[in-house]
Amino acid sequence: MAGLIPQSFIDDLLDRADIVDVVDRRVKLKKSGKNYMACCPFHQEKSPSFSVNPEKQFYYCFGCGAGGNALGFLMDYENLDFPAAVESLADSLGMKVPREESPDRRDRDEGQRDLYPLLEQAARFYQRQLREHPAKAVAVDYLKGRGLTGEIAKQFDLGFAPPGWDNLLKALGTTPERIEQLKLGGMLVENESGRVYDRFRERVVFPIRDARGRIIGFGGRVLGDDKPKYLNSPETPVFQKGRELYGLYQAKQANRQLERVVIVEGYMDVIALTQLGISYATATLGTATGQPHLEKIYRLCPEVVFCFDGDAAGRQAARRALESALPVMQDGRQARFLFLPEGEDPDTLIRAKGADYFRAQLDAALPLEDFLFEALSESIDTNTLDGKARLSKLAAPLLNKLPAGVYRELMYTALAERTGMQVDTLTRLVDQAPPPPAEPASESRAATQRPRQREPIALSQQGPNGLVQTAIFLLLHQPAMAQNLPETTGLEAIGGDDAALLIELLELLRRRPESTTHMLLGHWYGTPEGELLNRLASQERLIPNAGIEQEFADTMAKLLKHPERQSFEARVDKLRSRNYADISDVEKLEILQALREKQRRDSERSRN
Ligand code: UTP
Ligand code: MN
Repeated sequence: MAGLIPQSFIDDLLDRADIVDVVDRRVKLKKSGKNYMACCPFHQEKSPSFSVNPEKQFYYCFGCGAGGNALGFLMDYENLDFPAAVESLADSLGMKVPREESPDRRDRDEGQRDLYPLLEQAARFYQRQLREHPAKAVAVDYLKGRGLTGEIAKQFDLGFAPPGWDNLLKALGTTPERIEQLKLGGMLVENESGRVYDRFRERVVFPIRDARGRIIGFGGRVLGDDKPKYLNSPETPVFQKGRELYGLYQAKQANRQLERVVIVEGYMDVIALTQLGISYATATLGTATGQPHLEKIYRLCPEVVFCFDGDAAGRQAARRALESALPVMQDGRQARFLFLPEGEDPDTLIRAKGADYFRAQLDAALPLEDFLFEALSESIDTNTLDGKARLSKLAAPLLNKLPAGVYRELMYTALAERTGMQVDTLTRLVDQAPPPPAEPASESRAATQRPRQREPIALSQQGPNGLVQTAIFLLLHQPAMAQNLPETTGLEAIGGDDAALLIELLELLRRRPESTTHMLLGHWYGTPEGELLNRLASQERLIPNAGIEQEFADTMAKLLKHPERQSFEARVDKLRSRNYADISDVEKLEILQALREKQRRDSERSRN
């Protein structure tokens, strides 16, 4: 890919573009007061709840919570990634997108640019062999024998590497440069004596696509019982196994909005699940599931189901997956674990029992919290005091891997439930826990994150919840106020996501005092924080402009006076504003606990 787009250009672009034009060209808008309205293009509706605010230059849907600036709209509406949306918007305004490039980045990019079309050609070569090669029957019969239809073979671009040492070499390695490129792409192997030959020979070939659909590597399966059963492309400049998921592109293609992704072990598992209607299956490529895999998926959807064999190796792999999942379990994300009967894999199981059965298994898969406690309790008698102590000791370091947020607190509550500890003790435990590693600077987050699945908004979420959100709300409407603020240290004591966001906002505004409302929205676009900001920014201004600054100063003063009071109130409000049907039993317990705590504090306050 070409170099980075300078932030200054993006700011300039958003400044020049008019979101009303951008939207109106795609969705007809009708003026209504200061705003423009339409039926929301992102969810089904009969009466318009999609509004575009020309003054703040962003759109918001009161029905589904979709919202963002002009670039965000293009990304969602046209299904573009961030750089493509920038290109498209710039193009419509006759602007050229500048790129910041360093020389070695340019070299690497050139090399990569050439690899993609070459690997695409290789995939097409193998596909042609599956249709035309004189020896194709063995491969076709093999695939048929495993229950594959021609249609699914086509959807996954399956091919055949025929017997022989140099089929691909002869077909594509027409110049020394191309041979070098094929080697770089992992398609050719060179032995000690310098002989160069095809990596994939006499195998069914599975092209691997990245999330954008570009072919980046291959897997190849023997047609019989030879070893090794599967051969994969090595790591190359375009193929990093620790980041890529087989089938993710096809899953994205098949689902406008992914709600869940299943991670299985093998190519054939992904294909069988997809063929039988579970069109959201992916597999890691012979590696354990790591954080980059999970981040990639969670950018697209809120739930991951891991599928493992029911044997000891499967349980072991599941524990490893659990450890990778913990640090990425931000609020709103879920992970589940499904253990298959011994001797079965998803391919054999779904073909034997059908898609409905398999889907039911997925629905019933163990939530992360249950699997975690179950796995930890395996060798402990949790009915004894000693066992309970040991459980908290084992669990605490794992729970500490969770990012700060409601989910982490819920897990501590669950731990307290299981160990009979007081929730007060639990809260202290949470506070004492070392903070999880800080996220990298968020400058480029907008470029990589996609919006999460949208949930209908509960009514109580329509206005700012509590003082912290009020402060954010006011700041969003008049970002320049941040300049006149005296000392704000001490906000950290509030804790929680909203307070963290407020702190980040203030820091950003200190660095870039000229930021406008829509630049702030752009900065957090596509992140969970961005959703909150959109919602708050869309609130009408109830306070006259002149009063905002005073209101803001008062709010900040209150926050700084009793920072510790905010955390409980924010927690209660946040939990109560959720859709009750989506709240798990553990969370209900937490609400109860938090309400009790709130009552206690309220009565304490009225006594003082
Ligand atoms: P499995 O051995 O579980 O096989 O490998 P499978 O997927 O059920 O294969 P079929 O059904 O016999 O065709 C799971 C995954 O592990 C990797 C591959 O990615 C495979 O899909 N693997 C397996 C290898 O990379 N090399 C091997 O030799 C075996
Ligand atoms: Mn299998």
